[in-house]
Amino acid sequence: MAPTVSARRLADLLGTLDQGGPAYREIADRIRLLVVDGRVADGTRLPSERELAGALGVSRTTTTRVYAELRDSGLLHSRQGSGSIVRLPLGSSSASSLIVTPDDAGTIAMTYAAPAGPPGLARAFESAATQLPGLLATTGYLPDGLPVLREVLAQRYTDDGLPTDPEQIIVTSGAMGAISLLARTLVGPGQRVLVEGLSYPHAHDSFTAAGGRLTALPVDRSPWDVEAMSAALASAPHRASYLIPDFHNPTAGVMTDDERVAWAHELKRHDVVPVVDESLRELNLDGVDLPPLFSAYDARALLIGSSSKAFWGGLRVGWIRAPHASVMPLVQARMMDDLGTSAFDQLVVAELLTEGGQTAAAGRARLRAARDHLLAELARELPDVEAPCPPGGLSLWVTLPDRMSSRIASAASRHGLLLTPGPRFFTRAGSAGERHLRLPYNQSHEVLTEAVGRLRAAYDDVVGSSEPSSAPRRSGTLEMIA
Ligand SMILES: Cc1ncc(COP(=O)(O)O)c(C=O)c1O
Repeated sequence: MAPTVSARRLADLLGTLDQGGPAYREIADRIRLLVVDGRVADGTRLPSERELAGALGVSRTTTTRVYAELRDSGLLHSRQGSGSIVRLPLGSSSASSLIVTPDDAGTIAMTYAAPAGPPGLARAFESAATQLPGLLATTGYLPDGLPVLREVLAQRYTDDGLPTDPEQIIVTSGAMGAISLLARTLVGPGQRVLVEGLSYPHAHDSFTAAGGRLTALPVDRSPWDVEAMSAALASAPHRASYLIPDFHNPTAGVMTDDERVAWAHELKRHDVVPVVDESLRELNLDGVDLPPLFSAYDARALLIGSSSKAFWGGLRVGWIRAPHASVMPLVQARMMDDLGTSAFDQLVVAELLTEGGQTAAAGRARLRAARDHLLAELARELPDVEAPCPPGGLSLWVTLPDRMSSRIASAASRHGLLLTPGPRFFTRAGSAGERHLRLPYNQSHEVLTEAVGRLRAAYDDVVGSSEPSSAPRRSGTLEMIA
């Protein structure tokens, strides 16, 4: 049976419609965006044309044209008796050709908040290569991780005030490998997971794929509203809570010491396991004082780290720091689909973590300069956009003057700029995210200047101060967010 999306839910996901161009085209564009960024999963059955027309308050003729347009572009397959099913057009083109990377000629992808490899990285590869003979003398299968890397990581946690044995570290394939391992190990079908109301979408997708039911907190005041979390935990049993307390993605906020104390207290009281994603903690661009690691507040916490943000996503080295008792079950579960992370890449990360911090510091300096450059360009070109300066992390979380994020993302794609619309970061459907855009600054100053120029053109298209560009629109692309 194909999964379904109700007309009401689809209308919520579509958000407020612009009255500018033809409605059918805008609705078709928005549905395409929902399918390629995964909010409407491949293979989902859409509501009938009549139901969708009712939920959106548009005519049946409009929704008939929407579905016809989606069918023509190969995204929708309708068959008598089985309804209209969305399908990513993988038939003739390969899946990888649908993944837009920042290197695609002419297109600027602002969907990745991850840095290019810093200058010292090549040196770390060379240095790791000198240690290859020792590594090659082993089988290279390391389901819990390369011993030298586990030792280095344990020492770092210990130096950071959290005494840790190497046995407490499990090296994974990126933070994403850690999240998905924890999701499928901790959460059974129907069990609830408490999450921030806006967050890193692939993490939430992982918990949902494991069968978890997400309880998303309101985000009006902060992603960590203590009263709301306490009420949510009191109202139903929860198994785990996933949170990003340091340079939160996408807001760049930092959970205060008081909030950590209160969260840990409530999680312990309700027997909820904290899964704490600290993969952005190293990107403290302004050297702000960070509260201790979450395990200092709740020793049961499962901490997630990664080399992707401080160094390079291509390394695919992440890790979990777990209480002793949780390690064996996690390693066993991991072996069901992954026998270990690349041994050589682990060696490279061990090098990077023991060289004295120059590569990481150079990466932070580069990001700081890029952040300041993007802020200056935005202030000049788009003064109506509110862009607070984040103290760390990889992106700005900007507030738009109106609910227009999806419209801007659509218009920007026509100018060769790929953006993740704000609602993608919000767990609950609705239009809250339409006031926001995440703008990563992990690119060169020239590219950021060009990106702001294209953003300005898209913004002008949307607010109607210039004719919409007639540049060809990109066809469906499979969106990955970092
Ligand atoms: C909060 C958070 N967790 C995890 C990831 C995935 O990281 P990795 O490349 O280590 O899998 C990202 C990437 O953007 C992230 O922002």
